[in-house]
Amino acid sequence: MDKFYHVTTYGCQMNVHESEKIAGILSELGYKSCERIEDADIAVFNTCCIRENAENHAFGNIGMLKKLKAAKRDMIIAVGGCLTQQMGKAENLREKFPFVDIIFGTHNLGKLKDYISKKQSDKKAVIEILDDDGKVYEERKALRTSYPNAWVNITYGCNNFCTYCIVPYVRGRERSRRSEDILKECRELIALGYKEITLLGQNVNSYANGTDDLTFPELLNKIASIEGKFRLRFMTSHPKDFSEELVKVIAVNPKICKCVHLPVQSGSDSVLKAMNRRYTSAEYLKKVEVLKKYVPDCAITTDLIVGFPNETDEDFNATLNLVKTVGFSSAFSFVYSKRDGTVAAKMDGQVPTAVSKARIMELIALVNAQTRAQSEKYVGKTVEVLCEDYDAKKGLYLGRDEYGRMAYFKSEKDVTGEFLNIFVESANGISLTGKIV
Ligand code: 5AD
Ligand code: SF4
Repeated sequence: MDKFYHVTTYGCQMNVHESEKIAGILSELGYKSCERIEDADIAVFNTCCIRENAENHAFGNIGMLKKLKAAKRDMIIAVGGCLTQQMGKAENLREKFPFVDIIFGTHNLGKLKDYISKKQSDKKAVIEILDDDGKVYEERKALRTSYPNAWVNITYGCNNFCTYCIVPYVRGRERSRRSEDILKECRELIALGYKEITLLGQNVNSYANGTDDLTFPELLNKIASIEGKFRLRFMTSHPKDFSEELVKVIAVNPKICKCVHLPVQSGSDSVLKAMNRRYTSAEYLKKVEVLKKYVPDCAITTDLIVGFPNETDEDFNATLNLVKTVGFSSAFSFVYSKRDGTVAAKMDGQVPTAVSKARIMELIALVNAQTRAQSEKYVGKTVEVLCEDYDAKKGLYLGRDEYGRMAYFKSEKDVTGEFLNIFVESANGISLTGKIV
């Protein structure tokens, strides 16, 4: 009889890819994927704790499985990811949800197979959270679900300790994969027909720092020189390590998308200092200037936080001004979320929720207006998109241009994974609509 798995993912692209690795492990064990969690013999929750709402979301969803588990006693429920790795959270989960069978952290994904067989043989819950051992494990094969794009990790962990951020505590110190392993994986992906590779790391610009391996720009150059038509993207770049050398590599390599995610977080120097970002707004703007000099049409996207402790109206206005100066093509805006264990969690001067809410609304309105204005400039032009998917609700295919702009269009045949020229007929905020030419 067929056995089924269901993986629920919370959080970032890093987690999306980690879920593909979990799916890889489960498929090696003979499980098949299923759409509905009710049909699963094993349900895995790949959690995130970067902000409180991601955490609450996971807790809520796990709680909802109590009834299902009571009716389906052999079902295995496993919880992994950043949340379980956070101090005390695994115990917390165990107390709240005694029906959970397996709890594992971010450093022992590769042992999931052992945990499942242990649970099946001993009939007892398995809980193991390991500390970061500083190693990179190469043996996990992902079952990829995002064709034509493939995610490829280049670094794990983070050394930056931005004062608001839990990531360095739950993902451990920064470590880089060997460039030959990354190149081998990229070559295989291109040979398999993947058309876009997105390199992943908390701070890709510090790739292989302190080792004799390639620098990040050298790595990009090497990957871009693999034969075949494909696109290369990367995320995330920490502004402090974003170099002119990298900008020049983007400028001369047509396979590297002219689209850089460069999180600024705030436009206020005192907030940036309190965040331990290690750049000023002027230094950030200088990096943007260099980027625009070499790659004039480069799209720049960012992350922004409002309501960091002690953020004043003046600080917030500085963020608005920086957003206007740079002209981001899109941005993720977040309300600061207090994370236990971080330096900022101990700071006085928490900003009232109503103030943060008003600020985020104003910020989102500004970002959206900029995005809309940029989309409108596309109307009447032809863009090359890589078709990513079919939107059944709209009855349209969707693709993305190298700048990250999404375009919807009609096609009689399945064109997923194809590069197509689209004549843009209209712009609707963040996305475009057009026809294949
Ligand atoms: N509160 C709000 N946003 C946060 N981020 C990280 N930690 C927090 C937090 N505690 C945001 C940052 C980062 C993105 C991935 O998540 O903007 O760039
Ligand atoms: Fe968190 Fe800063 Fe590291 Fe990004 S660079 S993961 S925001 S600590």
